[in-house]
Amino acid sequence: MDITEKIISNFKNNKSLYIGEKVTIAEHMIQSAMMAEKSKSKNNLICSCLLHDYGHFILDDPEELVKKNKDGKHEDIGYEYLKKFFKREVVEPIKYHVLAKRYLARNKKYYNRLSEASVLSLKLQGGLLNSRDAKSFEKEEFFKDSIKLRKFDEAAKKVGVKIKDIIDYKDLLKSSLK
Ligand SMILES: [Fe+2]
Repeated sequence: MDITEKIISNFKNNKSLYIGEKVTIAEHMIQSAMMAEKSKSKNNLICSCLLHDYGHFILDDPEELVKKNKDGKHEDIGYEYLKKFFKREVVEPIKYHVLAKRYLARNKKYYNRLSEASVLSLKLQGGLLNSRDAKSFEKEEFFKDSIKLRKFDEAAKKVGVKIKDIIDYKDLLKSSLK
């Protein structure tokens, strides 16, 4: 099975709820990609959104689990796996999407909009970024796209929204490969 087919089948078969939320991980990622499309984002960023929590699928996949450390961070697991297949522009914002949350949450307004589960995971992820780390993050090549991805991510937890099928993204996935 090639990587595009494998991703599509994981989206179809994985019914796990997004931790602490009422949507599945697959629905959540598709919702975030749809938001990126609506905001007229570049294809690379739409693809980043679509795959940003793919690490959770890997953690759920017994085949992959044996090869990975179960307690690993999902953003790193997703990144390490996907970078073998996808362009840098797609995978780099995925690597940084948790850091982007720690960066954005320094803003009180943003923090107050976080879901309960997201506040909880923020603590486990290291809490708010200190100002020195925030400054060095701002200098990263993919800083802006990581922030955009994070904002779509945060908003993509709506229940009862009509969402696309993963098949609709087949061409996008194919064109985002290295
Ligand atoms: Fe997410």
